[in-house]
Amino acid sequence: MADAFTLVISEQDISTRVAELGSVLAEDYAGKRPVVVGVLTGALWFVADLVRQIDLELDVDFLLLNRFGEGGRIRIQTDTAIPLVERDVILVEDIVDTGLSLTILRKMIEERRASSVRCVALLDKVTRRIVDVPLEYRGFEVGDEFLIGYGLDHEGHYRNLRDIWAVLDLGIFRDDPETFRRSVFPRR
Ligand code: IMP
Ligand code: MG
Repeated sequence: MADAFTLVISEQDISTRVAELGSVLAEDYAGKRPVVVGVLTGALWFVADLVRQIDLELDVDFLLLNRFGEGGRIRIQTDTAIPLVERDVILVEDIVDTGLSLTILRKMIEERRASSVRCVALLDKVTRRIVDVPLEYRGFEVGDEFLIGYGLDHEGHYRNLRDIWAVLDLGIFRDDPETFRRSVFPRR
């Protein structure tokens, strides 16, 4: 049980790294007014923290993807309210895993004739990549363990954890949920 899960990135380390990414983005987009587009639901926490570290005028919007069918085809279920034509788009993802979602998303945004598209992901599971998709900014390179917290979920749960945890044995959700919950929600 003790090695069924482990803390991977603390709230403090996330916050330090997000601040670094914010200043890099502020430099790179100086003189522009980019539109930050977060991919719901997982990127919501990261977007909220990141934009407060980018000292520039910018717009913030979100889109929600829908996975369907065999092979995990994706489409946009809820689109941005802001038109992306001729905008400098900063696409924000929680995590890039196989790279399939990001590949399709980049293509969809480019088809809208955005002036530029770059992606920032908090986490990069680089060893799991199936398609070689550009990722201009990333917070942390991580291993191939299943992660939860700071937006990442297991079947809709645990997005609200302040730290990021690796679940090394997914049986913990089934076999010992109470002990697990007491560890990841320390104040309860
Ligand atoms: P990709 O298309 O395989 O790159 O998938 C990326 C998406 O898979 C992310 O946006 C997450 O929603 C989900 N995902 C990948 N790895 C994890 C993980 O470790 N925990 C939770 N969700 C994950
Ligand atoms: Mg996601």
